[in-house]
Amino acid sequence: MKQEHVVAQMRQLIQILAKHNHAYYVMDNPSISDAEYDQLFHQLKHLEEQYPEWVQSDSPTQKVGGEALTKFTTVIHTVPMLSLGNVFNFQELEAFDKRVQERLPNQKVQYDVELKLDGLAISLLYEHGVLVRGVTRGDGETGEDITQNVKTIRNLPLHLFGAGVAVPELLEVRGEVLMPKSGFEKLNRLAEEKGEKTFANPRNAAAGSLRQLDPKIAASRPLAFYAYGIAQCQPHHGLNSMSESLHWLTRLGFEIAERQWLVDSIEEVEQCYQDIMQERASLSVEIDGMVIKVDSLQQQKQLGFLSREPRWATAYKFPAQAALTIVENIEWQVGRTGIVTPVARLKPVFVGGVTVSNVTLHNIGEIHRLDVRIGDTVSVYRTGDVIPKVEKVWPEFRPEHSAMVQLPATCPVCDSPVVMPEGEALARCSGGLYCSAQRIEAIRHFVARKAMDIEGLGDRWVESLLHLNLLGNVADIYQLHQHQAQLLTIEKMGEKSVQNLLNAIEQSKETQLHRFIYALGIRGVGETTAKMLANTFQSLDALMAADLEQLKKTPDVGDITAEWIYDFFHAEHNLEVIQRLREAGIHWEAPQAPTRQPLNGESWVVTGTLASMGRDEATQRLQALGARVSGSVSSKTKCVVAGEKAGSKLDKAEKLGITVMNEDQFLQFIAQYQ
Ligand code: IVH
Repeated sequence: MKQEHVVAQMRQLIQILAKHNHAYYVMDNPSISDAEYDQLFHQLKHLEEQYPEWVQSDSPTQKVGGEALTKFTTVIHTVPMLSLGNVFNFQELEAFDKRVQERLPNQKVQYDVELKLDGLAISLLYEHGVLVRGVTRGDGETGEDITQNVKTIRNLPLHLFGAGVAVPELLEVRGEVLMPKSGFEKLNRLAEEKGEKTFANPRNAAAGSLRQLDPKIAASRPLAFYAYGIAQCQPHHGLNSMSESLHWLTRLGFEIAERQWLVDSIEEVEQCYQDIMQERASLSVEIDGMVIKVDSLQQQKQLGFLSREPRWATAYKFPAQAALTIVENIEWQVGRTGIVTPVARLKPVFVGGVTVSNVTLHNIGEIHRLDVRIGDTVSVYRTGDVIPKVEKVWPEFRPEHSAMVQLPATCPVCDSPVVMPEGEALARCSGGLYCSAQRIEAIRHFVARKAMDIEGLGDRWVESLLHLNLLGNVADIYQLHQHQAQLLTIEKMGEKSVQNLLNAIEQSKETQLHRFIYALGIRGVGETTAKMLANTFQSLDALMAADLEQLKKTPDVGDITAEWIYDFFHAEHNLEVIQRLREAGIHWEAPQAPTRQPLNGESWVVTGTLASMGRDEATQRLQALGARVSGSVSSKTKCVVAGEKAGSKLDKAEKLGITVMNEDQFLQFIAQYQ
């Protein structure tokens, strides 16, 4: 094929894809299905593979990241990237307004009020509508060329499309790169699951992602770009105001922040500020205040600059997000699963709009990393609705003779030894069901619908019963009928509710083996594993007598879980509880002999919304065929069932080349086994 022909074809595909990308990421209103988008995308990719020498620089295939760099090059900003002055309260804001009014006598001033996005400022250069360069702010005079990374940002146009406006020959746009809160939380969750380092806040995550020399890493991070200004435009855009400029930018394909106001007075600016403080937590991105700009570009010109700051704009910042305070104590709390967590008790301090007096230190490893000690002065950091954390210890303020914090040898609640297996980050109380901190949770788990299903034994009951010392462990549930008189002393519990409770307990005695196994709350044994164990061993006695090797061979049971199961059935106090439960009359029918199950040992994932059944039901159907249904996609996944609005799991499956079924295919598939 001739070059011009290939290029024309590429350009056409790029243009169509850009339009749909914009509809998807910016307008949140997809115009074609994901599958259709993929078809176009693959067609372009195929063409590019055939003719790599003519790959267009604004091709969306570049969004997955090109070659890694060895270092960034420095770029001088033709128009410097200035900073903003700050105000922190209404008096200071009024003073700003007064300075503006004095320089614009007898003129009406309108203010454009924007969110102050808490990310990183960048500058984007477009030539004839094509993105040619992305540069960090740097020191305002020079920045670093991060074009490769910038190109991977999903909502950023690589190619401008003038929806009713002429695309300029040259355009330099300024704006902020951010990681929206949802993406940040997901990224950290994944990192945590993999035992990797997490980011302290979305800003650091965005900065860390943009600084990657390998654009593939940047491409895997959920970054977003929001435009807030025009540095250069040739030919001149002819716009008259800031608010018009923002609108104009959206027509060229840029996304702007989710809120923006045009107001007539400084009092109204204050009202916006108060409103947005309230709304802050529900915004999709982190903000650290607002930016107030004189709306008229003509007036901006008249006002000009004072040293490095515009006289026509200022930042109205939220109260400080980090503050110094003192660690008054470090206490250890036992969580529901026996994990022993250190909590710093702080001298109460006002940070980012709330008073913080406790902050988790996560684990002993984190304490040692920070080397935080009782009496230390620390910086406490808080972003929006993110949990506060100790970010820094100031050793210069450390009192004399302070000691390094040690993991306690025994549980603060039940005095059983605290254990921390080698290679693990978390310490645990070994008291199991004997530890009252764990007892509440063990009981909640035992009575849950998917376990022994004792309806009515809710939290209020459990707390009262623990208080009356009637629940030493789960076996005591079945002795409650002997304490009717005491049960009636519980406030608001009449004869009827006591009777209902006792009936529910009685009914629960008839159960199924897998429910009972699940109810025991053995570490690592969820519902699915409990079913596998019941199916494999067929009786509780056989399971209790199983050796490690037998356990490891059970589908769905890994080596570590096998050890946990083995240990559970070899701990004296657990055997005692099981014995008492059986004596109380808990029974089940022998499970059906395992039939050959077609999906035995396969791992499946269900994602998105199915029209014909809930995800729970789809899961049960798959489990009935022997599949293990997992919450996350990995290379071991056999198949992903993707309903409507399937998101990242579907993307991942496609990336890993895993079989994907849509709802129709899934229904057909399971129908063959009915
Ligand atoms: S306008 C000459 N608008 O704030 C003024 N800046 O201290 C140019 N920022 O580094 C800035 N949101 O990263 C502007 N809506 C917004 C903003 C914003 C965040 C940041 C920007 C800049 C800093 C200024």
